[in-house]
Amino acid sequence: MEIKRLDSMQTLVSLCKRRGFVFQSSEIYGGLNSCWDYGPLGVELKRNIKNAWWRTMTRRRDVVGLDASILMHPNVWKASGHVDNFSDPMVDCKDCKARHRADHLEEMVCPKCGSKNLTEPRSFNLMFQTHMGPVADEGSVVYLRPETAQGIFVNFENVQSTQRMKVPFGIAQIGKSFRNEITPGNFIFRTREFEQMEMQYFVEPGQDSKFYEEWRETRLQFYKDIGLNTDNIRFHPHGEGELAHYAKEAGDFEYNLPIGWQELEGIHNRGDFDLTQHQNLSGKSLEYFDQAQNKKYIPYVIETAIGCDRLALTVLCDAYREEHTEKEGKKDVRVVFGFSPLLAPVQVAVLPLSKKPDLQEVCYKIDDDLRDKALRVQYDESQSIGKRYRRQDEIGTPFCVTVDFETLEDKAVTVRHRDSMKQERVAIDQLNNYLKENLRNFQS
Ligand code: GAP
Repeated sequence: MEIKRLDSMQTLVSLCKRRGFVFQSSEIYGGLNSCWDYGPLGVELKRNIKNAWWRTMTRRRDVVGLDASILMHPNVWKASGHVDNFSDPMVDCKDCKARHRADHLEEMVCPKCGSKNLTEPRSFNLMFQTHMGPVADEGSVVYLRPETAQGIFVNFENVQSTQRMKVPFGIAQIGKSFRNEITPGNFIFRTREFEQMEMQYFVEPGQDSKFYEEWRETRLQFYKDIGLNTDNIRFHPHGEGELAHYAKEAGDFEYNLPIGWQELEGIHNRGDFDLTQHQNLSGKSLEYFDQAQNKKYIPYVIETAIGCDRLALTVLCDAYREEHTEKEGKKDVRVVFGFSPLLAPVQVAVLPLSKKPDLQEVCYKIDDDLRDKALRVQYDESQSIGKRYRRQDEIGTPFCVTVDFETLEDKAVTVRHRDSMKQERVAIDQLNNYLKENLRNFQS
């Protein structure tokens, strides 16, 4: 058997559409560039990813959650540096009119038509603007947040004092962010509306480098826990020229996608930049009083920042495999999403061998019972059992439970394992324990 990894984004885009993971936004109107909708399976996958992240962050005693609003006071973005610095250099091709990020071009040549006839680079601010209230003038400008982090900084004092948090501690948040990217693309890799999962960890100055290293390790462990193949993950520390305006030290975890090694998550040591900026512009003290040491200071911040959609893309690429076989001159390809059961949109499929009412009735009972046990279940009775197994492989379902005519006699079902395709006969009254045990022992 030959196993092939995903080698083209287009294959993934088609599969995601065909099986209901991701659809183009506003498709019936011709679509909206770089906007995507998560279908029934995609939304489950994304929710499972968010739950996994939220659990690992907030089950710790030293990290609490927050859900700040998307629209914030415009001064937030002045203080954060986004009004002045959050821009990319943009060039237009004078021949084909395409617009590009100057820093993504090789030797200032238009990648669309090959022309060297480009405009001078101009600075383009990536924040989306809108107006608050009925009058659209300069005084009513507000921004759609370009990162969730600032909602955490401006709530630092609220969270610390109400929860009696002691430094070091963190605040975690999941939410939508918006950037008017010049060149979005590659499916859900870079979009203008996306979801971020960010955590800001407040530490005593001088302890920051230690915690920066600790969070690097913690985040790598998370990737292992959700079943990513770490051979395809590397850490890229930022050199002098790459550091963001707020960062003291920083680096990215990168994943080897079909489009090459790409940034997945940023780990940043932001020093006291943000809290100091907000303290200065708001006039409110954001100093922390360290009782144990009897001293005041503005904490330093270690940030972990990952895009939920980008992680969903990574999980999809990582899990995809094609198994190519040949038997008696007949070629076959089995497409599998080898998701960890933690993330799989469907964990168990319940399948009657045929549409006979007495088999359906047993299936419905099993289906209800497994749903009651909080498993993610799909009932499927259309087409042959072989086609249904393949369909479940293609959406990454770890287990299929088949009810056949023998079931009516022996009160047992066949459980088929996605990866080995092994089949086992299991008594219905033991099914829940069997699945629980196998989901727990699952090796992804
Ligand atoms: N608060 C720091 C911050 O936002 P960032 O490196 O600009 O840092 C963090 O963004 C993560 O958010 C990125 O590593 C990426 O996973 C995700 N991200 C950023 N821009 C994105 C976009 N346009 N589309 C999808 N995900 C994006």
